[in-house]
Amino acid sequence: MTIKKVRKAILPVAGLGTRFLPATKTVPKEMLTVVDKPVIQYVVDEAVEAGIEHFVFVTGRNKAVIEDYFDIQFELEQLLRDRGKRTELSLLSDLRPMAGTTSFTRQQEPLGLGHAVWCARDIVGNEPFALLLPDMVMKHETPCLKGMVDLYDHAGGNVISVEECDPELTYKYGIVGIGEPVGEGFRITEMVEKPPRGEAPSNLFINGRYILQPEIFEILERQEPGAGNEIQLTDAMLKLANEQDFAAYHFKGETYDCGAKDGFILANVAFALQRDDIRPSVAEKFKALAAKL
Ligand code: G1P
Repeated sequence: MTIKKVRKAILPVAGLGTRFLPATKTVPKEMLTVVDKPVIQYVVDEAVEAGIEHFVFVTGRNKAVIEDYFDIQFELEQLLRDRGKRTELSLLSDLRPMAGTTSFTRQQEPLGLGHAVWCARDIVGNEPFALLLPDMVMKHETPCLKGMVDLYDHAGGNVISVEECDPELTYKYGIVGIGEPVGEGFRITEMVEKPPRGEAPSNLFINGRYILQPEIFEILERQEPGAGNEIQLTDAMLKLANEQDFAAYHFKGETYDCGAKDGFILANVAFALQRDDIRPSVAEKFKALAAKL
């Protein structure tokens, strides 16, 4: 069996971000900052660390600023150069993807995650790809997608990342059933999107990172709407799992759902405390604030 390298990643960024109004009236939720970088930058960094070479953004109306963010800001860089601001200049150039390694397509209608992924089919073509949901920002010494690529390079097939959630909250997520062990994960026996309370096969939820084979696109093409009347990726993956191997990678780090206010605030605190330039001036103040609770 030849295992094709995962070179491309899909980042669905068409969501409206209604939970963050009024901020998201003009700023896409993916551009809200965790400390001093937009949320989307954390997710792209994770993909880069996993060896991803091409980024496919599935965007929507009012998201053009994401495309600008990943482009060169010529006037700004010239100004920084003229003023001798070398640190800021190299920060910008280090973060900028190489020319020709980004693609943008539009979802047009909010028909669900499965539909967003399907919109990238022509750009991805006939090769395995990674999918990263940008709301989920992760923190661990082995970046989540890197751990998954390591498992994929050994097992092939499809790999999705899972982690524990409060058993009371399984109805909010895609949940998997646990089969025999494979590497740092296990075979998946079942997948269900937003199971009714008390009907989840486990408390391991799909946390927003996937490595999928391109056959998923043909299935998505015919996929009927599921939970929430949306075209669900989980339903299409369940069909693909009848034909191909599906493994779960058990992520053991921290995940912050930056699409929700609590997760976004916690991400800011956690990443600020990790920074040598910020921790000294905020740590004591955080403690004092917490003591007042
Ligand atoms: C999506 C997926 C779900 C996954 C979740 C992770 O749901 O459909 O399987 O568990 O992301 O955040 P959504 O959050 O779009 O409802």
